Amino acid sequence: MHKIRVDLERDGYNIFVGYGIISDLAELISPLLKPSRVMVVTNPSIDELHGVTVREALAQLHCDVALETIPDGEQHKNMATVERLLDKMVGARLDRSSLLVSLGGGVVGDIAGFAAAIYMRGIPYVQVPTTLLAQVDSAIGGKVGVDHPLAKNMIGAFYQPLLVCIDPAVLSSLPDKHVRNGMAEVIKYGVIADEGLFGLLERHSNSLERLDAGLLEDVIKRCCQIKARIVQQDVRETTGLRSILNYVHTIGHAIESVTDYKRFSHGEAVAIGIMASSKIARILKLLPEEAEKRQNQLLIAAGLPTTLSGVGSQSIIEAIKLDKKASAGQNKFVLPRSIGRVVVKENIPPETIELALKEILT
Ligand code: GLY
Repeated sequence: MHKIRVDLERDGYNIFVGYGIISDLAELISPLLKPSRVMVVTNPSIDELHGVTVREALAQLHCDVALETIPDGEQHKNMATVERLLDKMVGARLDRSSLLVSLGGGVVGDIAGFAAAIYMRGIPYVQVPTTLLAQVDSAIGGKVGVDHPLAKNMIGAFYQPLLVCIDPAVLSSLPDKHVRNGMAEVIKYGVIADEGLFGLLERHSNSLERLDAGLLEDVIKRCCQIKARIVQQDVRETTGLRSILNYVHTIGHAIESVTDYKRFSHGEAVAIGIMASSKIARILKLLPEEAEKRQNQLLIAAGLPTTLSGVGSQSIIEAIKLDKKASAGQNKFVLPRSIGRVVVKENIPPETIELALKEILT
């Protein structure tokens, strides 16, 4: 088992990564907290797969363990779901020393974490992420919250968990599409911060959808180390460092938005965003052509799209203008300088963006 510290002044915590550790949850929690009650929050399909294991593991804490399901899907990541969950928490008489355990992907983690943040002004919670995307990104760093009908992730808090328990074994029941989704984020970490990780993925490019157990554990650990390092230096995203995690979001979100969030999964939009950002960087002579090619090859090997059809460059440029990071008509991009290094650039000329988009639009 690996232990990665997220070193924050008062709110520091450990991320544990290891095969089978979902069964050791009580041992991980008990040195930190003797909860009065526990409530596991999950969705119906995760409950079916892992609900019993997690409840049995938590029974070792010798207190009441309740389990509540919330509906699956981003369309339920809203205040109505939070309110229903809060009703259940009040009904179960959770108090300040009760513990919420979030068992699921990013949607469950964001909702449960937010409910923990506002119930009685904050009770402890543990993240047990069950998708690759959540294991390498959303379960770490304390961004919790829900969508507003007019904007994603608009309502929320920074609220750090007591610990994060990452068991790569739970990924074996995920459909390939989900694994690909997470792999886009893993490749993203390689591009922004870890050439060694990128090289490792290249060496195993024939088996990215089903990495062997030891390798998968190592890959997840490396991503968590990067995320922990960034979060502990800029926990509330004030210095601009944490915003490099939003690398490719400027274009990725624009692609998701012009395709009505229906055509591409988040990971697929991230993949196309990685390519578009690389092309902008190459056109601006920030990134060597060779590095751009390596990204293209790795994304294709991971089964991810690197081109886009049926969409005009102008609609993407308009969507970029509406991005919440754009201010007073100035756009803001995080662009790669090499594999493992990025730079923030503002006010990229629309002609440059258009040239790059033309290369990916088919
Ligand atoms: N997922 C981006 C962040 O945690 O800041």
